[in-house]
Amino acid sequence: MTRKLFIKTFGCQMNEYDSSRIADLMASSHHMELTDQPEQADMLLLNTCSVREKAQEKVFSQLGRWRAWKQDRPELVIGVGGCVASQEGDHILRRAPYVDLVFGPQTYHRLPAMLEALEREHSPHVDISFPEIEKFDALVPPRSEGPRAFVSVMEGCSKYCTFCVVPYTRGEEFSRPFDEVITEIVELAEQGVREVTLLGQNVNAYAGARHGGGTVGFAELLAYAAAVEGIERLRYTTSHPVDFSDALIETYRHVPQLVSHLHLPVQSGSDRILNAMKRRYQIVDYERIVSRLREVRPDLSLSSDFIVGFPGETEADFNATLALIERIGFDHSFSFLYSARPGTPAAALADNVPLAKKRERLARLQSLIEDQATMISTEMVGTSQCILVDGLSRKNAAHLSGRTENNRVVNFTADGAQIGEFVDVRITEALPNSLRAEVIGANSTTSAIMEFASLGAPTPD
Ligand code: SAM
Ligand code: F3S
Repeated sequence: MTRKLFIKTFGCQMNEYDSSRIADLMASSHHMELTDQPEQADMLLLNTCSVREKAQEKVFSQLGRWRAWKQDRPELVIGVGGCVASQEGDHILRRAPYVDLVFGPQTYHRLPAMLEALEREHSPHVDISFPEIEKFDALVPPRSEGPRAFVSVMEGCSKYCTFCVVPYTRGEEFSRPFDEVITEIVELAEQGVREVTLLGQNVNAYAGARHGGGTVGFAELLAYAAAVEGIERLRYTTSHPVDFSDALIETYRHVPQLVSHLHLPVQSGSDRILNAMKRRYQIVDYERIVSRLREVRPDLSLSSDFIVGFPGETEADFNATLALIERIGFDHSFSFLYSARPGTPAAALADNVPLAKKRERLARLQSLIEDQATMISTEMVGTSQCILVDGLSRKNAAHLSGRTENNRVVNFTADGAQIGEFVDVRITEALPNSLRAEVIGANSTTSAIMEFASLGAPTPD
């Protein structure tokens, strides 16, 4: 009988990616089938996040809810993976002794062997080591679901921003070999994938070993990925301003598959706070990158990550962040209340900003970003946009749905358009969380790329 697997994922896109790879792996090794009904599952996995305190708390309350099921069905397997597992290790077993398996972001490929050991020895297993490259060698080729896919290109982070746990939970930066990444993209393209998002905590720090010697940087990787037949749209997340090379800026000139949208975390608009965060750039550096990018791609839209209420943040620091948001014109972004993480340098800093004040600042920041995002949506009405059709509309199954380059969901009447294709639409209405549109023609992306190539644009050798 096929065993059922339920995975609950907290946190970032890296975790979403890891969860889908775990599902592929368990399907291949144990014929497990993914279910969205936890009460029917034979194996329950939590893929956790410890970037903020709230995310961490959710893990133990979720485990508490699963505890009763384990009492009724002792054969039920409960596993905890991700960054909380990496940080807490066997403390998890002390706090939740009904947990069977604890694995880190770098050891989930060992889950099949851990499950076998559990069934053989009837004792819990913990493996939160950082064996680096071994993981990707052990994973099964990805299965695409639809025309969009994620490809992990590097792991971990070596930046050690003073507020962040990621370098401790995911380990230091480590790039996947170049040939492996390209092979994965080719395999996905052969399955019908048209848009790929390259993933990593700092994708632009990528330096992947090339078969036959040397390394390939991120800009070059993008050019090669764009040359894979069938891949017509490229995104990446997350990049760091410090690793934003001239070559990467030039890629926006030469690689039309690269979308005119960039998520570039800035965190704060105050140099004083950036310095205390150890971000290693100043606002002038950040703005220089943006203006150079906009010279190459005038229509580039930007989103970012912001932390509000970092220890010692004054009203003047915060106002500098608001001013930066207005100057850049950031679109939909992520903003968080600072959360002290145990073991990070910032956790030791004196923090005299009252919580109510921090909350009030966060609300002001979010409202400014919301206003700017609404303005961008409104300005899109009447324009034509190329969208990748990725499924049926969530609210009306008679309509199709896709995304613009700047990541807005667009719903429209099919008019001959098919899932998995690019289609040109005219935006007719801006709604709070989506846009409405009408079809004006088929796939302009391919013809734009061909036109670009005929102009003699450099292609990777
Ligand atoms: N690599 C990315 C970068 O270049 O900044 C960030 C990865 S981090 C997992 C995602 C976001 O979480 C960060 O950009 C930051 O805004 C937020 N974050 C990380 N640690 C945080 C903390 N202690 N409190 C609040 N937000 C935090
Ligand atoms: Fe975290 Fe800074 Fe790296 S935010 S993931 S330590 S770039």
